[in-house]
Amino acid sequence: MNFLDGTEAGADGILTLAKRALELRAGATPTQHPGKRVAAVFLNPSLRTRTSMEAACGALGAQPLVITPGKDAWALELEDVVMDGDKAEHVREAAGVLSQFADVLAVRAFAGLVDAEEDRRDPMISAFAAHASVPVVNMESALWHPLQGLADTATWVNHLGDDLRGKKIVLTWAPHPRALPAAVPNQVLLSAALQGMDVTVAHPEGFELDPQIVARATSLAAAGGGGVSVRHDQDFGEAEVVVAKSWSGFSGYGRREAEAAHRAELGHWTVTPDKLPASAGFMHCLPVRRGVVVAPEVLDGPQSWVLEEAGNRLWTAMSLLEAMLAE
Ligand code: CP
Repeated sequence: MNFLDGTEAGADGILTLAKRALELRAGATPTQHPGKRVAAVFLNPSLRTRTSMEAACGALGAQPLVITPGKDAWALELEDVVMDGDKAEHVREAAGVLSQFADVLAVRAFAGLVDAEEDRRDPMISAFAAHASVPVVNMESALWHPLQGLADTATWVNHLGDDLRGKKIVLTWAPHPRALPAAVPNQVLLSAALQGMDVTVAHPEGFELDPQIVARATSLAAAGGGGVSVRHDQDFGEAEVVVAKSWSGFSGYGRREAEAAHRAELGHWTVTPDKLPASAGFMHCLPVRRGVVVAPEVLDGPQSWVLEEAGNRLWTAMSLLEAMLAE
């Protein structure tokens, strides 16, 4: 089984992995997989994903093989072109070779944010999935970040219980100096919808998520007894969880300069203590810009779940790899 957006495991499968992660966190002994290897290919930087995958492999007795193409490995070509440029290795051979050395192949490749249809195709993770002969794990692609979604689900289960249907979650846009990909907010929306949560996406006009993804999440949420709504203010109502993230608008493709000018006027979307409902937990995938995305008083305050959320990246990487390496 590939793990490309997390829905491959199904709602119950994700819950099982999340609950197993919480057992591991509580001290359960992980199943050992000596002799197994996980190849992790990073085309973009990482702190949490890289270290949690390496640490998870160590805890399972497996070996991580981590490469960064263009730095300590050959730069990767994706297109079917005559390769007379600066990229020395095609993803076809890279996937074929790494599949012989590893039992799971994991890839990080962010969105380009230039061509909407190209990003919708999620080209690098799709190419690895097409040419690998072992299961592929998405470590954040143009569209999705299912490892983050699994860690977020474990965090929700820990605080809200394992029946997440109808639980109220707000995903709020937040300021940032740069246009950022939407993989994380897409994933928060999809993961919450998969569990039938009541999801509100709050963003300024012009910063909408891909309508195709919102429509997919709406169907998923409805099937699980929840729903998806969109609003253009930060009235968080009776939210039990508030997740903040900055993202570039889907309508911003082709007009990033105008979007940047608009974004510069939206500093009032910083999450501040007065906006947070008294009983809500606050989440952000990290890294986070303190004082820009969220006030330090929220990040450092008693309602912040961000360090637990990040810590759960280790336990969920372990629960996922434990299962995948047993296949
Ligand atoms: N949240 C997350 O994926 O962090 P990194 O980019 O540091 O891996």
